[in-house]
Amino acid sequence: MTPFSTLVALLATLAHAADYYNPIRNDSADPFMVYDQGNWYLLSTGGDVGITSAPTVAQLANAERVPVFSSTNTSYDVDYWPPEVHNFDGTWYIFTTAASSTAQDRDASRRIHVLKGGSTPAGPYTYAAQLGANVAGDQWAIDPTVLFDGGNHYLVWSCHDEAAYNAQSICIGQLNGPTELLNRVVISTPTNGWEQNGFPVNEGPSAVYYNGRTFLSFSASYCGTAQYSLGILAYNGNGILNPSSWNKTGPLFTSANGDYGPGHNGFVLNPGTTQDWWQVYHATPKSSGGCDNSRNTFFQKVNFDSNNFPVFGQPEAVGGPYAGPPGE
Ligand SMILES: *[C@@H]1O[C@H](CO)[C@@H](O)[C@H](O)[C@H]1NC(C)=O
Ligand SMILES: *[C@@H]1O[C@H](CO)[C@@H](O)[C@H](O)[C@H]1NC(C)=O
Ligand SMILES: *[C@@H]1O[C@H](CO)[C@@H](O)[C@H](O)[C@H]1NC(C)=O
Repeated sequence: MTPFSTLVALLATLAHAADYYNPIRNDSADPFMVYDQGNWYLLSTGGDVGITSAPTVAQLANAERVPVFSSTNTSYDVDYWPPEVHNFDGTWYIFTTAASSTAQDRDASRRIHVLKGGSTPAGPYTYAAQLGANVAGDQWAIDPTVLFDGGNHYLVWSCHDEAAYNAQSICIGQLNGPTELLNRVVISTPTNGWEQNGFPVNEGPSAVYYNGRTFLSFSASYCGTAQYSLGILAYNGNGILNPSSWNKTGPLFTSANGDYGPGHNGFVLNPGTTQDWWQVYHATPKSSGGCDNSRNTFFQKVNFDSNNFPVFGQPEAVGGPYAGPPGE
């Protein structure tokens, strides 16, 4: 490029990078975000499934949250804990936990359900299926996400497999399309001290890929403590469904700068790139931590070290402005 065209390209980049402030949205726990055709779509835990969309990260703060799904079927009518939206062959599907309002033990009724949408993440959505009912017994399941590897899709979630370990753990299973789960393997249990503050917990998995490597982040410890944090399961190539294929490291992202219990993240690409990863996560300003609506959604860049391993740094302080992703 000539110096002049380089300058024009630089100015074009700068013109598109809107500054943003953290948190990017308040009262927004367990966030997940995608970008599609000029808009960001932010989902978080709620009483129904809702989506907030805007052309820039900064505009998500005040954009309207649009409800896209609720149900009167008492098998799955409450507690839509973190919905995520994923694309299968051009169609968007929401994966969400739901519980039954009429169950004698509401907590025990939590299962993963799939909603079918259309050609953009905006919806509308219709109920499609429950996942996992036929896989080695029907078990408690929350926090679904999708991992892609070698053309296969896998569901990853927080499970409670008492035979493996009597606490919330991370499970993975292969998907046959978006609506059928074929199997289930426990790949991480909360056996280290940093995973056991409050209660032993592994939850909120999210996949990220970099220079041929595959990682799952997850959240460790109880959300109601300031020690809620992120760890990483690094895939070592010996088979996705093999528990010994996942090397655990943590804690890698912990309370700092007035943000407590940072976790339950989701990875999202700077638009138009294949490896410029950013993350959304929640944190609370309460120094005791909290599982309540004081959890706000933060957004920041993810770096990688010379081994192509994710580097989260520290949660960014409330305020800003922070430079937005250049591709938006
Ligand atoms: C959002 O939460 C932050 C603390 O994380 C607080 O400083 C800010 O005032 C809140 N914004 C609104 C609009 O309530
Ligand atoms: C409610 O959902 C359950 C489980 O999917 C299903 O068996 C039942 O038929 C549904 N009830 C209605 C009224 O649609
Ligand atoms: C995973 O851990 C095993 C056992 O500690 C080690 O031999 C291997 O090099 C690790 N692999 C990766 C990719 O970190």
